[in-house]
Amino acid sequence: MREEKVIEEKKQGKALLTEQLVGNKKKLFIESYGCQMNMNDSEIVASILAKEGFNTTQQLEDADLVLVNTCSIRDKAEQTVRKRLQYYNKIKDINPDMKVGVLGCMAERLKAKFLEEEKIVDLVVGPDAYRDLPNLVQEVESGRDAVNVILSKDETYGDVSPVRLNSNGVSAFVSITRGCDNMCTFCVVPFTRGRERSRDPKSIIEEIQELKDKNFKEVTLLGQNVDSYLWYGGGLKKDFKNASEIAKATAVNFAQLLDICATEFPKMRFRFSTSNPQDMTLDVIHVMAKHRNICKYIHLPVQSGSNKILKAMNRQHTREEYMELVNSIYKIVPEMALSQDMIAGFCGESEEDHQDTLDMMNYVKYSFGFMFAYSERPGTLAAKKMEDDVPEAIKKRRLQEIISLQQEHSLFRTKEQLGKTQEVLIEGTSKKSDAHWKGRNTQNTVVVFPKEKYLLGDFVNVKVEDCTSTTLIGKAVGYSENN
Ligand code: SAH
Ligand code: F3S
Repeated sequence: MREEKVIEEKKQGKALLTEQLVGNKKKLFIESYGCQMNMNDSEIVASILAKEGFNTTQQLEDADLVLVNTCSIRDKAEQTVRKRLQYYNKIKDINPDMKVGVLGCMAERLKAKFLEEEKIVDLVVGPDAYRDLPNLVQEVESGRDAVNVILSKDETYGDVSPVRLNSNGVSAFVSITRGCDNMCTFCVVPFTRGRERSRDPKSIIEEIQELKDKNFKEVTLLGQNVDSYLWYGGGLKKDFKNASEIAKATAVNFAQLLDICATEFPKMRFRFSTSNPQDMTLDVIHVMAKHRNICKYIHLPVQSGSNKILKAMNRQHTREEYMELVNSIYKIVPEMALSQDMIAGFCGESEEDHQDTLDMMNYVKYSFGFMFAYSERPGTLAAKKMEDDVPEAIKKRRLQEIISLQQEHSLFRTKEQLGKTQEVLIEGTSKKSDAHWKGRNTQNTVVVFPKEKYLLGDFVNVKVEDCTSTTLIGKAVGYSENN
């Protein structure tokens, strides 16, 4: 009976996971803004609070506790959260007893100030303080405000098994590092997420095993800077130089971690994000070439194509070094897809610098991109020492030029796939048609095709017949060997 229900749900492409603990009475509404790391952190938070009697709900009106996991990366991201808090305020008319907490980067950045600025907020918890939530929630339940924004040297939540939220039951995130030591001058992350530390490979493997047991098919290893992963027994990355000789000799780097994961779980498909060009080594690319279950896709943000701007941003590589890295990547894995992050209108950016960015894009021809106008963030070196001197209208125009060029390149890349047969993991029903599945190929491009006999979570070979700049359209020709 259960088997039939599962097959029926798989046909419909429904989420299979509703991880709720029987007997839990309190209701938690949790939502996340910003990066994938925040999504994964919310799953960790849900797991910690499940032990305190909370199950998650999708209904704000029913919630005893509302948590919003926030993003500070650009001013707009913060404004979105503030609007959301105003909306919670309205819900309080219907649900006056609900408590509201803010988690994540805005909590860390604003600290107790949040309580004054937004009256609706009862609880402020930074990214390294989630283990303290049981105490903090108790405080709040007894009518007091609570704040913990202490950053940690070694917290990785390695032993917390995340409750999968809104999951399709097919792909999941597994965090491998926290924090960032890179100090790009525009970026608030090192201040809100603290120093870089890596998670014990043993606990990473255990989490992937759990996912495998639950029938997940794809894992994305997450970190602000995954290539910088280094396990030597725990502690900050920057303290590695003082580690014992034994710790140094047995340390595990990212290429090794990737190799271990792909070898241990040959049927699981692996992705990772994000790579920083300055920390990426060719070992990683060789490991990718060696394993068919590591997707041939790297998110490799460069931010700008101008040496002057890269230097002002404190990115530790030149335009030439980046292009050299790209050459090597394409040489080792010719079918590799690359994507970028770009910032338009950073302090001091001239038309010539902007042109360098467009030239660089023409050289690499990225498959995708995430493109932003520069937004000054309080506390960063750029905010303190540099002038945000590119007028908004010019930032917008340059951003638009970058976006248009990316669209051309995306179409160029999807057209390259026409006529090819590619392995696709089915992740859900297509947004546009109930009769079609959607999934992604190894290069991370979305592929849509008629459902036929196939089920959610199947690995299918799909022949690509048509495309837009973002989507491949095709027809399944059978199960792939991975199925
Ligand atoms: N290491 C993380 C960086 C997170 S920030 C990662 O690589 O994913 C994600 C992207 O946001 C950055 O790559 C950058 O392009 C953009 N970004 C960060 N700070 C910004 C700012 N102050 N203004 C505009 N965009 C910014
Ligand atoms: Fe931010 Fe640069 Fe780290 S963009 S997250 S400081 S690599």
